[in-house]
Amino acid sequence: MKLASTTVAVTGGGGGLGSAICRAARARGAAELIVIDLDGAAAKAVAAEVGGRAFAADVGDEAQLNAAITAATEQVGRPGSRAPGGCTGSTRRRPAVGQPDPRRSWI
Ligand SMILES: NC(=O)c1ccc[n+]([C@@H]2O[C@H](COP(=O)([O-])OP(=O)(O)OC[C@H]3O[C@@H](n4cnc5c(N)ncnc54)[C@H](O)[C@@H]3O)[C@@H](O)[C@H]2O)c1
Repeated sequence: MKLASTTVAVTGGGGGLGSAICRAARARGAAELIVIDLDGAAAKAVAAEVGGRAFAADVGDEAQLNAAITAATEQVGRPGSRAPGGCTGSTRRRPAVGQPDPRRSWI
């Protein structure tokens, strides 16, 4: 799969699977990489490694998630196409926005 002209946003992007998806997306030519994680330092480290942009946000908090997406959109502009990836797993505290079942909290 080629991702040229695609903005890829990965929640849980600072973690094991999320960072692997970020690296894979970069290798496949993603135009922009948005790394979102509860752990802002982890998001920054992965973003620095793959040439992406880091945002700290709790995906279980709609306001935080919207703020991160809005800030990312302002920075990268309107992407030609978008590919979301979710790797937060179960958030323990509450399900990710749009996922009422905590056992299926990937977005
Ligand atoms: N690693 C595997 O082989 C594997 C296989 C199957 C399923 N899973 C599941 O996939 C999920 C991710 O696995 P992993 O190995 O990448 O875990 P990980 O702990 O390395 O990464 C999870 C990331 O999600 C972030 N996170 C947690 N809650 C968050 C929230 N509310 N908002 C934003 N970010 C949040 C964490 O800070 C962390 O960086 C886990 O639930 C795991 O059980 C993993």
